Amino acid sequence: MWRKTVHVAGLALSPPVALAPMVGLSHSALRSLLLQRGGIGLFFTEMLAARRLPHDNARISPLLRTSDGERPLFYQLLVASVAEVGPAVDKVHRLGGDGIDLNLGCPAPLVRRQGAGSALVEDEARLRTILASLRKQTKLPLSVKIRLGPHGDVPALRGRCRFLVDEGVDLITIHARLDGEKFCRRPRWEVVGEVAPDLPVPVFVNGGIFSVDEARHSLELSGAAGLMIGRGAVSRPGLCAAIAAELYGVRSQVEPCGPEETYFSFFGLLEERFAPERRLGRLKQFTTYFAAPLAFGHGLASSVQASGSMAEARDRARNFFQISTSNASHRED
Ligand SMILES: Cc1cc2nc3c(=O)[nH]c(=O)nc-3n(C[C@H](O)[C@H](O)[C@H](O)COP(=O)(O)O)c2cc1C
Repeated sequence: MWRKTVHVAGLALSPPVALAPMVGLSHSALRSLLLQRGGIGLFFTEMLAARRLPHDNARISPLLRTSDGERPLFYQLLVASVAEVGPAVDKVHRLGGDGIDLNLGCPAPLVRRQGAGSALVEDEARLRTILASLRKQTKLPLSVKIRLGPHGDVPALRGRCRFLVDEGVDLITIHARLDGEKFCRRPRWEVVGEVAPDLPVPVFVNGGIFSVDEARHSLELSGAAGLMIGRGAVSRPGLCAAIAAELYGVRSQVEPCGPEETYFSFFGLLEERFAPERRLGRLKQFTTYFAAPLAFGHGLASSVQASGSMAEARDRARNFFQISTSNASHRED
């Protein structure tokens, strides 16, 4: 059993299991769905451009929508220059964020061209100025999310982590893949294990955790204080609760719930939280991951992808679940 509570600059995270920041996925509807299923001790927003954030209207922006209970919530910022820091931090304070995360891992060319994400971590002087400004402007916990570096070189990774701690970072999440490495590649949890145990701040390990066994294995190899889970939490919304119970002894008071009920709960949350024109795209993105582990799930994914409206998607999804229930009962006959 691993330690069930981790403190990050005085903030208690229990269980130490975080929902990863994911563009188009880590929004209020998913956070609320996972809150219902249990097992998450820390939420992240998807990455938010620090340049734009101060101008976004929290009442209408789908990126800023939150509801009661989605806490603690760290706002992930994509920062390219120090001038963006002050106004963005002010906005996070006004939104009532519980922490600020700096994205230092995103390898997308559009992000790198602006000098943000993984391009920022390569420019130590600019990063130092940005971290110093963040540290000066907020007392909130400061976290960063990084990858292993270009080659998984352990001394370089250790040096990078120590630099981040020296600049005032309170939590480091390491996505256990090389810079730019595709998500289908094996996560290198053991490389995280070369640095995490010796750092004076908690490290969360991320990447490729889709089952309780993988969560256990990632903790054994990395020595991390906690886990960050992305796609696994979307494809199996009960996964974090199972991990929390089995690895941390933190049990959620939730009724077991089948895929159909889970899917339509999410559907309802999208309708509740987002303007009509924002719903279908998010449903399609969620469905791609949610359908993957289901028997004949490609049928659900492709029929929802082909839908032109939420009403059509609902009918097609109902149809899919009806057929799969009747197939399952025939198999039992
Ligand atoms: C659709 C999608 C969007 C993502 N968006 C972000 C993001 O906004 N910020 C970030 O730091 N990482 C982002 N990531 C990376 C995830 O946070 C995570 O590091 C990655 O998915 C590996 O973890 P997993 O195997 O548990 O999914 C994204 C990943 C996916 C699949």
